[in-house]
Amino acid sequence: MSRILIEGGNSLAGTVCVGGAKNAALPIMAGCILGEGPIILSNIPYLNDVGTMQKVLEALGVKSRRLENGDMELASPGGCNEEAPYDLVKTMRASFFVMGPLLARLKRARIPLPGGCAIGVRPVNIHLKGFEALGARVSLEAGCAVAMADRLIGAPIMLDFPSVGATENLMMAAVLAEGTTTIENAACEPEITDLGNFLNAMGASVSGMGTPTITINGVQKLHSAKYSIIPDRIEAGTFMVLGALFKGPIIVDNCIPAHLQAVVAKLQEMGADVQCEESRAIVRGPERLKPVEIKTLPFPGFPTDMQAQLMVAMCLAGGTSVITETVFENRFMHVAELVRMGANLSIRDRTVVVTGVEKFIGAPVNATDLRAGAAMVLAGLCAEGKTEVGNIHHIDRGYENLVGRLRLLGARIDRLEEENH
Ligand code: UD1
Repeated sequence: MSRILIEGGNSLAGTVCVGGAKNAALPIMAGCILGEGPIILSNIPYLNDVGTMQKVLEALGVKSRRLENGDMELASPGGCNEEAPYDLVKTMRASFFVMGPLLARLKRARIPLPGGCAIGVRPVNIHLKGFEALGARVSLEAGCAVAMADRLIGAPIMLDFPSVGATENLMMAAVLAEGTTTIENAACEPEITDLGNFLNAMGASVSGMGTPTITINGVQKLHSAKYSIIPDRIEAGTFMVLGALFKGPIIVDNCIPAHLQAVVAKLQEMGADVQCEESRAIVRGPERLKPVEIKTLPFPGFPTDMQAQLMVAMCLAGGTSVITETVFENRFMHVAELVRMGANLSIRDRTVVVTGVEKFIGAPVNATDLRAGAAMVLAGLCAEGKTEVGNIHHIDRGYENLVGRLRLLGARIDRLEEENH
């Protein structure tokens, strides 16, 4: 099993460049099913999840390749298949994003239910209810969600919860429907806006992205397009927390600080000096961080994907912090790992009470999911002694060359590659 080895305590400073947004790239790649011509996407990160989406698309008949300049070209020369393979879908929930575009393009789709994961049950009922509202007949057959329609007809859809994935899947299902669809209580995340802008670049008519009401006027077909993905706000936020843990400064370059207002506000409340410019943030940590309370919420609230990383900063604050997770029901697997490094944490239902300690002590720990893995690396970087992070395939799903970029900031960090994991 590959591991990340960290010798903690080095002071870090310098510039780190943020890559393209994984959570924008994945639905946008799925959206390429809709285009009747080649699509060129730039700022697509080199991540395992991106590779998995390429394989899912390949199985559906959409060819993709990296061009010399790093852009990705996607095209479906000979029409699509309607069925995605379970072996791929079970490794990445975002594979389910292909259901909306397949339904729009072929009027039928058969996608294995992705199942739960380390952070919760994660059902897809909101996606399926929305497909039904557009006129599809939806059934569950042998572990697969099956949707069929003679025609999709635009309709008002009210989401029970502003689910990011459901909003995206339904936007893609509705772009070729007859008439107008409105999605109420839609998710407002920047990745939704990016997907809408991409669909519009292909000739769709989507408006209201970034607000709770998205309107989609169906069009007959979508064409070729060139599109550049937004920077990854969660990666940027992870590096901002790193900046708050060190005197730095750490300059987080090529990001959109406006997408991270909730994170910036909390880091400032903790005493960090965060200077935001249009496309970078300069972060300096204080002598000792101050405790804060946070509650994870849909955008523009504090992102659940930043909860584990901010918990690391809370662990070292002078006082008691409180963190409440409202988006996922089981997203505290990292708590036990942080306790192994000397943190003082107690879980009560969906809340963790964090009593600040002076320091972390290096220890062997595990990445329990993607963001929890990043949190363990942050903790290791400021710990006394050596930390070994296992299960780093989780980290590889969402952070490109994390070790290399941290080294450039002065970290003593290495990857130990071992086969047979
Ligand atoms: C996306 C992000 C993920 C992030 C999450 C919340 C991608 C690839 N992943 O995941 O990193 O943590 O948004 O910001 O973009 N739910 C239902 N029924 C549904 C759909 C969702 O009950 O049909 C529930 C989920 O179980 C969860 C909550 O709604 O508790 C939020 O899920 P959702 O917003 O859909 O997250 P994802 O799109 O899966």
